[in-house]
Amino acid sequence: MYQQLYDKLAPYGQTQLLRFFNQLNAMEQAHLAAQIQALDLPELDRLIREYVLQRKPITIPEDLKPAEFFPLHPVDADQAAWYERARARGEALLKEGKVSALTVAGGQGTRLGFDGPKGTYPIAPLSHKTLFQYFAESLLRAGEKYGHPLTWYIMTSVINNQATQEFFEKHDYFGMEPKRVVFFIQGTMPAVGYDGKLLLGAKDSLSLSPDGHGGTLLALRKSGCLDRMKAERVEYLSYFQVDNPLVSVVNPLLLGLHALEDSEMSAIMLSKTGPFEKLGNFCTSHGRLWIIEYSDLPEALATSRNADGSLCFVAGSPAIHVLNRSFIERLTADGQLSLPWHRADKKVPFVNEAGLLVKPEEPNAVKLESFIFDALPLAERTMILEADRREEFAPTKNQTGVDSVESCRQMLIARDARRLMAAGVKLPLTPEGDPAVQVEISPRAVLDDEDAAAYCRSRKLTEIKQDTYLE
Ligand code: UTP
Repeated sequence: MYQQLYDKLAPYGQTQLLRFFNQLNAMEQAHLAAQIQALDLPELDRLIREYVLQRKPITIPEDLKPAEFFPLHPVDADQAAWYERARARGEALLKEGKVSALTVAGGQGTRLGFDGPKGTYPIAPLSHKTLFQYFAESLLRAGEKYGHPLTWYIMTSVINNQATQEFFEKHDYFGMEPKRVVFFIQGTMPAVGYDGKLLLGAKDSLSLSPDGHGGTLLALRKSGCLDRMKAERVEYLSYFQVDNPLVSVVNPLLLGLHALEDSEMSAIMLSKTGPFEKLGNFCTSHGRLWIIEYSDLPEALATSRNADGSLCFVAGSPAIHVLNRSFIERLTADGQLSLPWHRADKKVPFVNEAGLLVKPEEPNAVKLESFIFDALPLAERTMILEADRREEFAPTKNQTGVDSVESCRQMLIARDARRLMAAGVKLPLTPEGDPAVQVEISPRAVLDDEDAAAYCRSRKLTEIKQDTYLE
């Protein structure tokens, strides 16, 4: 077996992977051999030359323009009518069972520094419900409200799949029918040292990491999920990330506009808070929609302004999409999909020549990931809808500061307080107008403002004086 593996690796200068092979027992040897056999070495070699040994320059198309979008508030009566029609259409699609939810939860969540899959993080401010529970209950309520139970596709990675599934089993799927929670595992990519050599994470294992949320599309195909959706006549996927509990898990207006506009892939956009906010920018070039990462948009473009002083490139992406099943089927028809790769410089632990595990203090390796938004330019038609960030986007990337557990909890409290106040409930406020008490409403009971109004009416709730969790 050694020789066979050696012959596979040698033409690409990667025989260091076999350094400890003869010290391994049979099971360990088989483990490493299977990983090596699965490598597409010619392709990896190309990627290493292109992305690791050099930094591929970013080419920004000359005709880059800000993308158009449907505004948060309709600009005239015609548009208002179109939105009304869209909302009704979205609700009908939900009622007919044409929509499933799709959550990407395969990331490693390194910035959060939490031991376990990110979805198992207790995010809710008072009840401490986990992200997974929060979404499950929102989906249950949405299924109830729109008259058809929703199926939830959750992408995991080899690293967290088992822990994720066990978590759902342990908690009885948070009340969802187990058959309506579908896990599928994304692909991996090997980490590459700055010298172009693949790293060993252990003597019997490559250092493998998830291949980015762009891996979702191919993983849906390979796992058989697309076939299942087709058999169940599901046509649309409501896509969101595991770290954003504020998101509308299904958004009738977004779904309806997507369908009425014949879009293949749609997106929610937020108005950026400033030119350098760390959100991808919606842009068009040659009639196609692109998201250009904040770090790649040239400063002159990022800071350019319209006559009224507003940012030209104002549209930022919170990674909320609707995708047609047929679009994903088309893209992955031959069992392959090549999206561009993005280079991330990381501190990757590795086994050194002496067989010792080294935990580097500085970045030592490149991880390659693909991003789902790179599918946008492949869509024949796209659609963007503006949303109110306070209602849709509270990412949990860090423990404190920007995009953190703290800011996320504050946003959840503020959103629930707004819902209560809109329903006529009195709350103590700070001089700045923020809620002076903590409130949380269970997503199992309340999905939106309409639900909140009905909830408060039925419970004769008119005032809240202290921290309150409403179930
Ligand atoms: P992030 O890019 O924020 O990465 O993922 P992360 O892994 O969660 O966190 P850091 O960067 O290590 O701190 C955005 C979303 O995409 C998912 C994540 O689970 C999250 O929902 N994702 C990311 C995947 O599903 N797979 C991946 O390979 C990467």
